[in-house]
Amino acid sequence: MSTHLSSNELVKLSAVRKSYFSNRVETPVLHGIDLAMQRGDFLAIMGQSGSGKSTLMNILGCLDTPTAGTYELASQQVRDLSRAQLADLRNRTIGFVFQSFNLLKRMSILDNVALPLIYAGVSRKAARERARTQLEKVGLGELAARQPNQLSGGQQQRVAIARALVADPPLILADEPTGNLDTRTSSDIMALLTELNLARNQSIILVTHEPDIAAHAKRLVRLKDGLVIYDGPSREGLRQMQQEESHLAGAGA
Ligand SMILES: Nc1ncnc2c1ncn2[C@@H]1O[C@H](COP(=O)(O)OP(=O)(O)O)[C@@H](O)[C@H]1O
Ligand SMILES: [Mg+2]
Repeated sequence: MSTHLSSNELVKLSAVRKSYFSNRVETPVLHGIDLAMQRGDFLAIMGQSGSGKSTLMNILGCLDTPTAGTYELASQQVRDLSRAQLADLRNRTIGFVFQSFNLLKRMSILDNVALPLIYAGVSRKAARERARTQLEKVGLGELAARQPNQLSGGQQQRVAIARALVADPPLILADEPTGNLDTRTSSDIMALLTELNLARNQSIILVTHEPDIAAHAKRLVRLKDGLVIYDGPSREGLRQMQQEESHLAGAGA
């Protein structure tokens, strides 16, 4: 297994291409993505529907593999790992937060949050203790015995965040985590993510189509038709987007 000197580098995509194939017809989606990220970075990904954001997140999350190019995660060349090694790396390194929360319905939220620890081989008792502490950190300690459908959308997303963080992974991947929430709740969820990111030096990659949400991130990556068209400070990137939009509005008027 390859080790690397710059161990602060958590994510490194080099010339990543991805195509989907059906009936031998190739649909290229990512056309050569370079992306590096250090521990503690907070990055938002924006781009129109169909630009390849979820495809990129699936590769970053080791749920899918590049058609060409390389992906190094936590100094490991993902391509060289066996299925079992990959699953192990994913469990140790990444916490996922989805738009639809993905909580298990017939289980208390405490057990939902404990699940990644159980998978990692932690005893049930210790897992539940850590899950309780994590639920307290997201402000839901008192609701630990409830099932997901007894909570509001915002509370359910807090549970999902607690579950993503409980094993203390260095990387959090969030694909439109506020897509199903109202503005007020979205901004609470973003404040929580930002706080956790700062406190534990965890890295976050967040997909969103809302500029207000992306503004919480330090860095913005914009995708267009499977290519990175901007990678830099989110402030500057969002300002450029706003200008482009007002030009378009001007041209259309
Ligand atoms: N499993 C798949 N098989 C074939 N085409 C796919 C698959 N997943 C996504 N695509 C196509 O790839 C493109 C990018 O999709 P996606 O990564 O989901 O974009 P985004 O998340 O930015 O909306 C779209 O044209 C989509 O139809
Ligand atoms: Mg998507």
